[in-house]
Amino acid sequence: MVSVKAWKSLLFAAGLAPVGYLAWAAATGNLGANPIEQITRETGVWTLRFLLVTLAVSPVRRVTHWNDAIRFRRMLGLFAFFYGVLHLVTYLWLDQFFDWAAIVKDVYKRPFITAGATAFLVMVPLAVTSTAGMIRRLGGKTWRRVHRLVYLSATAGVVHYWWLVKADIRQPRNYAVLLAVLLGYRAYEIAGSKRARGSEARST
Ligand code: HEM
Repeated sequence: MVSVKAWKSLLFAAGLAPVGYLAWAAATGNLGANPIEQITRETGVWTLRFLLVTLAVSPVRRVTHWNDAIRFRRMLGLFAFFYGVLHLVTYLWLDQFFDWAAIVKDVYKRPFITAGATAFLVMVPLAVTSTAGMIRRLGGKTWRRVHRLVYLSATAGVVHYWWLVKADIRQPRNYAVLLAVLLGYRAYEIAGSKRARGSEARST
């Protein structure tokens, strides 16, 4: 049987594969006609993928009873943040050359940038509070409350994607459907635990 530790090492290597590929493609001139656009797109889409996979951990655990799945969630979430940082740095540096006035204007003027900035900003408290020490300091209840922001981040990420595509909405639509399923499952779980609390209260 492969241990959780070995799975974690594998997952870590897999999580670095997209950035490894980008580094290789950049070094060998394989990023296509518009390398900056390619890097922006790849890092953006991997941010969203990791966010959605992170959100899928709990449902997968419940449905499959694979309890160890939870032990991969923090790493998956931190990979989402890692790609989010790369995506943002690509935009700030290679796309805007740190022209802060233009960047602020972009955030105001272009709704898809506003949505992307929202998705990213919301990820910051999630990453900062991801350590065991912060979980202890905040207490489980507050920590869980803070971490519900992940749903807002993923929603803003999907909106960002939807708004930036010009004509073919198939890709963002696929991510929107996946997110809707995950949000639907969460709503079903909340309704279930409310029902359980209600019937517990009635029977006492
Ligand atoms: C301040 C934060 C952000 C900025 C300024 C930003 C900016 C951009 C820009 C300029 C593009 C390329 C648009 C184009 O090619 O026409 C893009 C693409 C994208 N971004 Fe962001 N983004 C941000 C945050 C995020 C976050 C947090 C996510 C994920 C949750 C995300 C997901 C995506 C996706 C999926 C794409 C499209 C990828 C593709 O075309 O395959 N972005 N972003």
